[in-house]
Amino acid sequence: MSQKRDFISVTDLSPSETGHLVMLAAERKKTGYASPLQGKSVALLFEKPSLRTKVSFQVGVAQLGGYSVYMGGEEVGLGVREPVSDVARVLSGYVDCIVARVFRHSDLQQLAEYSSVPVINALSDWEHPCQTMADLLTIYEHKGSLEGLTLAYIGDGNNVARSLCLALPAVGMNFNCASPVGYELDQESVSIACDRGEGTVTTLRSPGEAVATADVVYTDVWASMGQESEAEQRRQEFAGYTVDPDLMAQARPGALFMHDMPAHYGEEVAHGMLEHPQSVAYPQAHNRLHAQKAVMEFLLAGD
Ligand code: CP
Repeated sequence: MSQKRDFISVTDLSPSETGHLVMLAAERKKTGYASPLQGKSVALLFEKPSLRTKVSFQVGVAQLGGYSVYMGGEEVGLGVREPVSDVARVLSGYVDCIVARVFRHSDLQQLAEYSSVPVINALSDWEHPCQTMADLLTIYEHKGSLEGLTLAYIGDGNNVARSLCLALPAVGMNFNCASPVGYELDQESVSIACDRGEGTVTTLRSPGEAVATADVVYTDVWASMGQESEAEQRRQEFAGYTVDPDLMAQARPGALFMHDMPAHYGEEVAHGMLEHPQSVAYPQAHNRLHAQKAVMEFLLAGD
């Protein structure tokens, strides 16, 4: 058996592998898949709620010929009922892949370290790489290419922003990130991203400046899961960072609007924006299925 590969960060794929998987997903979406997961099993371990990620993984595994076992956080008690290392070692004897949504990215790193099967990040506090793969697929489908395009991310420098930042320059895209004071992306991620490819990373304060050169305008919630107690404070500090039709009008003609969802209408996104003529938010959500199928085929087929 070949050395196992994990996908807990977008940087687990080389720049060329990232581009290859976007093309693979686009191609397979048109032509259909064989059954690369025939007879294979996937554990879905979710410490947090999910609609898109949970359903798209469950359906995707089945469509690839495999089967999945879903476990909620309390059931497993990752690091509470038993150490993460034991969970990893035991699950490795039952399943061919572990897909995990966790609070702490360090738990995911431990799962990957102690598991003998591939571990896929279904969201952690640090990254959301599967979301980024679906985002790239959506941009590719609607723009016909990725290279040279600019994505403006408006809002919190969170896990979603970090995965976009780390992936986009690697495929030749530029990343503009506009955040309020105290919510900027960390400089280390920006520095790593800049070293991964030809695309640029620009961090700035003004949403208007960020979107002025944008082919894609993207936003995410101001308070992520686990930050609910900060929601009111964040609503005040993110004032002026709502993506609405006026901000979209400042982007390049034909720019796409994207949101990874769930959306908090009236906060990071105006009511009606997901139905805006330039919005691709629903195809973006649907592409979670296709992008993750390509990731699973890449990591698991042939083992
Ligand atoms: N975008 C996303 O990860 O959605 P869920 O939280 O519903 O999985």
